[in-house]
Amino acid sequence: MEEELMQIKNSAVSMIIDASDQKELEEIKLQFLGRSGKLTLTLKEITKIPAEKRAIVGQLANEVKRVIEESIESKLSSLISYFSSQRKQNIDVTAPGIKPGIGHLHPMTQVLHDVIDIFKGIGFQVADGPEIETDYYNFTALNMPPNAPSRDTQATLYLDTKNSNAQPGQILLRTQTSNMQVRTMEKIKPPVRVIVPGKVYRVDDVDASHGFEFWQLEGFCIDKNVRLTDLFGTIDYVLKKVYGEKTKIKFATTNFGFVEPGVDTYMECTVCKGKGCNFCKQSGWSEIMPAGMVHPNVLKAAGYDSQKVSGFAFCIGLSRLVTLRYQMDDLRLLTNPDLRILEQF
Ligand code: DAH
Repeated sequence: MEEELMQIKNSAVSMIIDASDQKELEEIKLQFLGRSGKLTLTLKEITKIPAEKRAIVGQLANEVKRVIEESIESKLSSLISYFSSQRKQNIDVTAPGIKPGIGHLHPMTQVLHDVIDIFKGIGFQVADGPEIETDYYNFTALNMPPNAPSRDTQATLYLDTKNSNAQPGQILLRTQTSNMQVRTMEKIKPPVRVIVPGKVYRVDDVDASHGFEFWQLEGFCIDKNVRLTDLFGTIDYVLKKVYGEKTKIKFATTNFGFVEPGVDTYMECTVCKGKGCNFCKQSGWSEIMPAGMVHPNVLKAAGYDSQKVSGFAFCIGLSRLVTLRYQMDDLRLLTNPDLRILEQF
């Protein structure tokens, strides 16, 4: 009987190996393990063999049954994976495709492009400059010598100069894109009309309207007979282009080391329409463009004759401009990579 069991096992396994689909496997299963299957019938004969041999034969019969069942299972799973990989390879080229998701420019970049276009339209060129800067171009050349009180408004991130030739405190992350004023003027002679968009860095507590890293757009215009009214006209033109002709703007005097006089430009808050909200600190106005007439000391540092030429400079808080345009009440949304936010623009 043992021999008979071994034969059953061998023929079942070889048939299973040769099986080419699930249906064939089911037939094999029926043929050996079904109610009148070969193995089932043989097992019924076990009662007829002497009691002392019965246990050993029973064990072998169980083993044969297990081997047949397991072989069927493993053949079945290999057939399934074979057919599914076949299906993948048979690509139906006529089936409708899956539409690829198309991205778009970040709201920051969209606004930047718009603003650059507006300035190009009135004769400004775009310049780019280093974010890692020297104390000289970021402060000293801008009439902000060491110990100048105006430096206190720009909490600065200094770089470690231990392994360099620079002195401690000489290399920093630029706090303002004004760093490009003297750098640019050293290279070109008036008339100068340049804008410099870029990132700046400060030590700051992050909240709805402050960040330690943000975008500015510096601009300056140097020529013969440039006056404060030219500055007002330029700012008015640009803000109305960006926000519409009805935009309300007001100017106030202020103090910056590198301009004299210094000017603060305020625009009616677009988030609350002048009513007062968290974003404008309940004032109804947003400070949007600090500016002023370039200080003679800055012109001198650049090698210009302050008796012959004059100019104005201004700065657009680009990050703030974006939040105002899209009425976002939190600056942090601009650096949030969550697609649910970005897809809204
Ligand atoms: N650079 C200044 C800052 O980041 C802003 C500024 C003020 C720029 C007046 C100017 C200006 O060009 O004229 O705080």
